[in-house]
Amino acid sequence: MAALVVYFSFEGNTKLIAKTIAETVGADLTELKTSKEYPKQGFQKFFWGGKSVLFGEKPELTNDPIDLSRYDTIILGTPVWAGSFAPPLKTFFSKYQITGKRIALFASHGGGGAKKCMATIKATIPNNDFIGEIDFQDPKKHPEENAAKAVEWAQKLL
Ligand SMILES: Cc1cc2nc3c(=O)[nH]c(=O)nc-3n(C[C@H](O)[C@H](O)[C@H](O)COP(=O)(O)O)c2cc1C
Repeated sequence: MAALVVYFSFEGNTKLIAKTIAETVGADLTELKTSKEYPKQGFQKFFWGGKSVLFGEKPELTNDPIDLSRYDTIILGTPVWAGSFAPPLKTFFSKYQITGKRIALFASHGGGGAKKCMATIKATIPNNDFIGEIDFQDPKKHPEENAAKAVEWAQKLL
């Protein structure tokens, strides 16, 4: 299996899980980075982030081009934002044609919306084989427990 973990993380929760999964399955790891920073403080972060999901924004990415043809398996991670996936993934989906891959999904959240978020990803990139999905509640609050959960899940993807 040649696997790539692609993720966006605003506050480090999804990043923790992404790194753990990549180490477990021996995958390459790509963090999606945006040219503009979202505000990180208080109400502002929910306002700008939520607005950006609702308006279907596609923030510009600063990543080098990714050669997806090298991978048969893509493991996608996102925080849940307003019950959906974070906008940088929307940019990723519009830049790259993702078809015929084995796809596994993981999401970090504060308590709800992961099922809907992952269903929306599946509807956005339908022509793939979805091999697994899992969600984590604010993994940085319980890093060891959540890393162990990620390892157990990732091993089943191999
Ligand atoms: C703009 C914004 C919207 C969010 N919307 C939701 C939501 O709908 N449901 C939820 O459970 N958590 C929501 N959260 C919380 C994050 O999903 C959660 O804190 C997650 O662990 C953050 O992952 P990260 O550190 O990788 O960015 C939201 C956070 C932000 C910043």
